[in-house]
Amino acid sequence: MGGDGVFKAEMDAARSQFSSIGFPDSGPGTPGWIRCLSLDGPAGDKTDEYYRLSVGTGEITIKAAGGAGMYHGLQTLRQLFLSAAANGKQCIPCVEIEDWPRFPWRGLMLDCSRYFYSVPFIKKLIDVLSLHHISVFHWHLTDDQGWRLPIPAYPLLTEIGSRRFDKRRGRYLGGFYSHDEIREVVSFAGVRHVEVVPEIDLPGHAGSILAAYPGLGCTGGPYRVEDRFGIFEDVLCAGNDSIFDLAAAVFDTLGELFPSKYVHIGGDEVRFKRWEECPKCQNRLHETGLNEGRELQSWITVKLAGMLKERGKTAIGWDEVLEDSPRYGLPENVAVMSWRGVKGGIEAVRRGRQVIMSPNSSGCYLDYKHHDDLEEPGQLGISRISQLYALDPLAGMEGNARSLVLGAQANLWSELIYAGKIAEYMIFPRICALAEALWSGNAGPDDFLERLTGHRRRLDLLGLLQYRGEP
Ligand code: ACM
Ligand code: ZN
Repeated sequence: MGGDGVFKAEMDAARSQFSSIGFPDSGPGTPGWIRCLSLDGPAGDKTDEYYRLSVGTGEITIKAAGGAGMYHGLQTLRQLFLSAAANGKQCIPCVEIEDWPRFPWRGLMLDCSRYFYSVPFIKKLIDVLSLHHISVFHWHLTDDQGWRLPIPAYPLLTEIGSRRFDKRRGRYLGGFYSHDEIREVVSFAGVRHVEVVPEIDLPGHAGSILAAYPGLGCTGGPYRVEDRFGIFEDVLCAGNDSIFDLAAAVFDTLGELFPSKYVHIGGDEVRFKRWEECPKCQNRLHETGLNEGRELQSWITVKLAGMLKERGKTAIGWDEVLEDSPRYGLPENVAVMSWRGVKGGIEAVRRGRQVIMSPNSSGCYLDYKHHDDLEEPGQLGISRISQLYALDPLAGMEGNARSLVLGAQANLWSELIYAGKIAEYMIFPRICALAEALWSGNAGPDDFLERLTGHRRRLDLLGLLQYRGEP
């Protein structure tokens, strides 16, 4: 492998990926010599992810405008090598490929609160996601059942908030990622051109915060890191200014660890009962000119988005952030992640907000079963491979609004996914279908299903557990 010296990081990553499947590096003039070159001439309006791959009888050439494009070209080549290796071959077909994605945001969310996945598992997952040209790893780091991110000024978030007592096993479960581990994951993903977007879920799904710092809740507790699953009444107290001190410390830490311009602030499934009953929250209502407790969510979103903006970051919220108060609205720079079907996404682009589609109604929830069968793991619904393949993030959107759609993602919530191996089974091969729908659009279900056999062989060769039933 060689090149013009521009793509060293991408080539180093590919070299070890290729040799691990029996395609060791070869030198100039030998068959399979890979040249990684900058695109000659201007890239025009081609995205940084654009590449050209040419496999001839002598050498292989990849040209790209940027590192991302080069990495994608190398991953397409890795797919060809994997297919050959799966068939016991040492040669790949001659091809000419010119390629670039339809959407920049092609994501997967992993819930590491309900189940604490190890760093080696997360790295292995990111590597295989990058093989499929997935561009975003959305890291759900906090929820009622566990806080996974050390914040120096708030040590109890991890000392108390990262562990929950599991009654079934009679012991504490949990863990957290050290700053060094987070840097390792972010850097590993960066080389693979996968952006890591952290999520800190506020002001609901905050059980692990309240267990650590009960003064931040409306009632003062007692609270616990939840062992049950569901939606809980206890949320951060909107009348207590200290919740913003905590948010500031968290955002500062995120700023140090994550280069992404996005921070996901959650905002989903907030219950308003405590705010209606709490004297401090009622004071806040009067002070802010609001009428109903529910409107405080909008006031909090505005504050959090502003704090992120000061730190050069853009907030993303689940689609509940659209249910704003007329007085405070939804800040322009908040991107919306549409999960309760597609209507939130459609409304958000109509209101001029950037959108990431992740509708639970169209296959994007990977905690749902693959198909309706008592023997299948999963809960709450069905997400079929064929639904994901048919996903069109622009469905129901018109005109210029469509340019506000960054792309789509699948989400793996982990209440019942208590091992990396089970996570693999829920993710694969559904993510292959979504990745292709977002990269190249829909070639038709029959076309994809024919190629699914090839996907399956590659996944097998990589040692990943996968679902093999009806698509
Ligand atoms: C969600 O599924 N609560 C975003
Ligand atoms: Zn309160």
